[in-house]
Amino acid sequence: EDEAGQARFDEIIAQDSRIEPRDWMPEGYRKTLTRQVSQHAHSEIIGMQPEANWITRAPSLKRKAILMAKVQDEAGHGLYLYSAAETLGTPRHVLNEQLLTGRAKYSSIFNYPARTWADMGAIGWLVDGAAIANQVPLCRASYGPYGRAMVRICKEESFHQRQGFEILLELSRGTAEQKKMAQDAVNRFYEPSLMMFGPPDADSPNSKQSMAWNIKRFSNDDLRQRFVGMIVEQAKVLGLTLPDPDLRFDEESGKWIHQDLNWDEFKAVLAGNGPCNAQRLQRRREAHEDGAWVREAAAAYAAKTNEKAA
Ligand code: 3HC
Repeated sequence: EDEAGQARFDEIIAQDSRIEPRDWMPEGYRKTLTRQVSQHAHSEIIGMQPEANWITRAPSLKRKAILMAKVQDEAGHGLYLYSAAETLGTPRHVLNEQLLTGRAKYSSIFNYPARTWADMGAIGWLVDGAAIANQVPLCRASYGPYGRAMVRICKEESFHQRQGFEILLELSRGTAEQKKMAQDAVNRFYEPSLMMFGPPDADSPNSKQSMAWNIKRFSNDDLRQRFVGMIVEQAKVLGLTLPDPDLRFDEESGKWIHQDLNWDEFKAVLAGNGPCNAQRLQRRREAHEDGAWVREAAAAYAAKTNEKAA
């Protein structure tokens, strides 16, 4: 069974086709997808927090409504991705437990504070912009449920990125104080958003296998490059500067040269020692406790209806 299964799996990957939940797959494929998809889901759920802090402080009803819609979208993205992860065999409550106990990773970016309203613009423009750069290729991931979840998520992510850009544009064209606030937010989110793409290729233990299995389509550094090229142009339209004196396009290599990123800081954030790690997990645990009655009620109702059906 395994030999035939492996041969079929290899053929599907070689044809760049899709692996579906019921197909035979190597344990390593199942494991790395459960790892990546669940961490992606955790990122979406934790990512709700920095923005949720500003819903009650949005400067207008319009901005409040847009921000609420975005935070609700992130919750939905998390649920899609937990559903995709569950098709690989790990129940959702196990994945959730891994997050609540601090054993699971989620995107480093959400361990940074959102200090001003302008951060809502910088997060939309830079963080969702980086997420799009990373997620569009994932629409073609070889694992069916993951790739299909990405299609819907990318459509909503584009709206997230546009509304962030628009917030920054409005501030940048506002008073000197507003422009300064926008520039400060970009200064704080620029480097952490570049680190969202993961460590340099030379320090990326998962990339080789993930690319061989058509999960990762482009390397961490290639996607980072693509993202830098996008925001350089958009920053000009915004009238804001990227806080990177070394940033330049190298004609010879055809690459963007940016400042060295602070990988020690990255490692510290991943180890749980970022500016907001403790408060993010604490808030998640509280939200989980606050929601216990909903889970109990749903379970009681399911038991009752099953009894009737039996
Ligand atoms: N934050 C936290 N952990 C990170 C990270 C980051 N920015 N970048 C890398 N890591 C971790 C990896 O998970 C891996 O650890 P693990 O083996 O324990 O999982 C380790 O660092 C080494 O990195 P690799 O490059 O070897 O790992 P990957 O091949 O998995 O590449 C990745 C990392 C590019 C983030 C890949 O996992 C990926 O594409 N994930 C899906 C995209 C994702 O998670 N995006 C989150 C963005 S936030 C978001 O989408 C919300 C938005 O809507 C606002």
